[in-house]
Amino acid sequence: MDLLEIVGGSRLKGTIPIGGAKNAALPILASSILVDGETVLRNVPDLADVRQMLLLLARLGVKSERDESGALRLRVEDEMNSHAEYELVSKMRASICVMGPLLAKRKRAQVSMPGGCAIGDRPIDLHIQGLRALGAEFDLVNGDVLLHAKKLKGTDVFLGGRFGASVTGTANVMMTATLAEGRTVIESAACEPEVIDLANYLNACGARITGQGTPQITVEGVEKLEGAEHSIIPDRIEAGTFMIAAAITNGDLELQGARMEHLRAVVDRLRRIGVIIERSEKGLSVSSARRLEPVDITTQPYPGFPTDLQAQAMALLCLADGNSAITEKVFPDRFLHVGELNRMGAHLRKEGPTVIIEGVKRLVGAQVMASDLRASASMILAGLIAKGVTRVHRVYHIDRGYERIEQKLAKVGANIRRARE
Ligand code: EPZ
Repeated sequence: MDLLEIVGGSRLKGTIPIGGAKNAALPILASSILVDGETVLRNVPDLADVRQMLLLLARLGVKSERDESGALRLRVEDEMNSHAEYELVSKMRASICVMGPLLAKRKRAQVSMPGGCAIGDRPIDLHIQGLRALGAEFDLVNGDVLLHAKKLKGTDVFLGGRFGASVTGTANVMMTATLAEGRTVIESAACEPEVIDLANYLNACGARITGQGTPQITVEGVEKLEGAEHSIIPDRIEAGTFMIAAAITNGDLELQGARMEHLRAVVDRLRRIGVIIERSEKGLSVSSARRLEPVDITTQPYPGFPTDLQAQAMALLCLADGNSAITEKVFPDRFLHVGELNRMGAHLRKEGPTVIIEGVKRLVGAQVMASDLRASASMILAGLIAKGVTRVHRVYHIDRGYERIEQKLAKVGANIRRARE
């Protein structure tokens, strides 16, 4: 297995290109099941999770290839197999996004229940509730969700869960509703930019979706969808991660393609900490004052502070001049990075869904273990500033969601290299 070795202390300076959004690409790839003809997707990041989704789609009869321009071309070749098996789904929870398209297009879906993962239990009750409302018969057999429907009829669907809206739950119900008969109104829909991007792609294929980006999405069902061309939005979580890399190293980065409008809650908190963030002609420019102010952060569904940047913000606040608090309202157990940051000299104390962060003068390099995608990112950020050498093990977690992160960071001055265990 690979590890990343980081020697802390370099200030990052230069330009980093931001890739296509993983969490927009994954449901949009899954929706290729819904359409006739060829789909052409541009700006699809080359990530382990994207490759995993393409493997699953191939098993489900969707052929894909990257053309010489780097665009991904997908086409359904056969609809025989509608079983997304455990050995594929267990590797990537976002595989659940094929469930709605299989049901809508082939009227049947057999998808292995995704298990829990490092960030907590990952139920799919809202997905099932929404699809049953549209007319699906549901059964659970040997750990697989079985769904079938003679006909799917539009209806009003409430998708609010105890942690707010569900991003992929909204994606699944919205994708299914595009081919249901009549109107579907999704209440308490997720408002994430990635849901908007999915809706915009589906509309380019002939769907009739309005309200995307608001808690109420309306879908008028159509007979069929034709594959279309689409370019994936930039990845706001990758952009936020590199904003924090600029702040933690007291550097000066330009993030090409980053969009201020996708990061308002993050910009609000970082500016309070003392990070300077301005629009530049290619995206966003980020630098920071040497002294970091402590702040309180609570993660919320969009447009609130994203849970996917919680671990990264925690790494930064370890060095603030005073005590901060981070409360996790989306995945209350998403704190596996706390123990690892403490091993680097941080003073973190978990009190239920809140972590109290007592600012320290410095972090010290250590051997640390990545546990999930974003926790890995927070350890890399801490390693960039820690005194001495940090080795982040199990770096396959990071490769799921960041394309060549060590190359992007090395190009702007980080002393970081990939090594074999
Ligand atoms: C998406 O996951 C993202 N993944 C996650 O990013 C992100 O952390 C999450 O949204 C929240 O923003 C993709 O888009 C592929 P949810 P998703 O359903 O859709 C509960 C990353 O690092 N819930 O919005 O699985 C759930 O337990 C990944 O890129 C139910 O109770 O998240 C959680 O507490 C990690 N019942 C909350 O809702 C359900 O049926 C939000 O989950 C579904 C979810």
